[in-house]
Amino acid sequence: MTVHVLFVCLGNICRSPMAEAVFQQLVNEAGLSEQIKLDSAGTGSWHIGEKAHAGTRRILEEHTIPYDGRARQVRPNDMMDREQFIIAMDESNLNDLQRRYGDHPRLYRLLDFASQTGIKDVPDPYYNDNFETVFQLVTDGCRGLLRHIREEAGI
Ligand code: 4NP
Repeated sequence: MTVHVLFVCLGNICRSPMAEAVFQQLVNEAGLSEQIKLDSAGTGSWHIGEKAHAGTRRILEEHTIPYDGRARQVRPNDMMDREQFIIAMDESNLNDLQRRYGDHPRLYRLLDFASQTGIKDVPDPYYNDNFETVFQLVTDGCRGLLRHIREEAGI
């Protein structure tokens, strides 16, 4: 069985590519790269085809985490896969997905899986350049998400 995980933010250039890269690193370290497959997408279309934002690329480089994905928009097919985990970065992304595609049994916010309670939304660094805070939150959420998937899938 292969578990598919799709990270979703607004532009697919700041937060969801960072989550995809961090999670891929964790998956690789756990030796689960054949069992867990990742992707990311944006609810918006403005940045389709672009590389990740310079701030995201810089923070990933600082942590020696590779990423070379390009932005794409969420497709209806993404939401038809009932087995896929859809991981939104904030409540606005979650609401957009539900409004457009209806309910999905595995639609979560990344910080639903974080160890620190209280903050549920990964703040958008596009406007305030706070990529370090975003990296810490994303990493915390990704660790919890991997634990959840491993328990649920028995891997
Ligand atoms: P992201 O950040 O959703 O984390 O990729 C944003 C990127 C672009 C825009 C907004 C947020 N934008 O308005 O173009």
